[in-house]
Amino acid sequence: MTSLTDLACEVLNTAKPSEKVRLTYRYAQMWRAGEISEIGDRTPPHRPARPANPVLCSPGDMPKRSTGGGKRRINLIHAIAHIELNAIDLGWDAVARFAPLNLPKAFYDDWVQVAEDEARHFEMLEKRLHELDAAYGDLPAHDGLWEAAMNTADDVLARMAVAPMLLEARGLDTTPGTVKRLRANGDHATADIMEQIGDEEISHVAAGVRWFEHVCAQRQLDPVPTFKNLVVTRFKGQIKPPFNTQARDQAAMAPAYYLTAAKT
Ligand SMILES: [Fe+2]
Ligand SMILES: [Fe+2]
Repeated sequence: MTSLTDLACEVLNTAKPSEKVRLTYRYAQMWRAGEISEIGDRTPPHRPARPANPVLCSPGDMPKRSTGGGKRRINLIHAIAHIELNAIDLGWDAVARFAPLNLPKAFYDDWVQVAEDEARHFEMLEKRLHELDAAYGDLPAHDGLWEAAMNTADDVLARMAVAPMLLEARGLDTTPGTVKRLRANGDHATADIMEQIGDEEISHVAAGVRWFEHVCAQRQLDPVPTFKNLVVTRFKGQIKPPFNTQARDQAAMAPAYYLTAAKT
């Protein structure tokens, strides 16, 4: 019988983005309908399959993102589409990677839902690239998100701290400024997409906080110092203001997390 971790690994091992999106929708629907009863124990790959393009570079070699006209706008949309594609895999990776911990069914509900949201985000941005006569794969992309995934593959607390609670929460901080600049440049179509993505990412951060605190309680760890320690040991960058406190509040992320861990 096919298990949820089998399906998660199938998505991870699918290179073609459109196929990754299609399978994500299908398997998320099957999971919600109760058609998959086994979690299983398939180990996910170290790296998900990727198409030949985009070429992956180190973050330092990337052109700076901007929301200005023409080419720079395509750079921005392409970079975010790449993040969303990685985020689909991060959702499925969480499902399979941490299955040995026997977490409650709600854990799988959350990360399957995240994968499905990310698939929709990728699809919206890819469609927007097509409207602008561009396509995903046209430009180089950076591998920072998957490097963070590999750095946290051994511990669900490290993964929750770095992926949703740090990187996705940073997205909550930066998205309103991006939307504002896009609107100032008259690109309301891209701004609308970014606004929707920003709203939907709140629930991903919330899921990260929920499972981080759940596992901290299981292990009798104090969440805030544990988070701070993981940020220092598992993340190369820093947590920096300004923070979108309203969105972080909506995600039920206590300010103590980011204020304690931030470099000001
Ligand atoms: Fe997303
Ligand atoms: Fe997300």
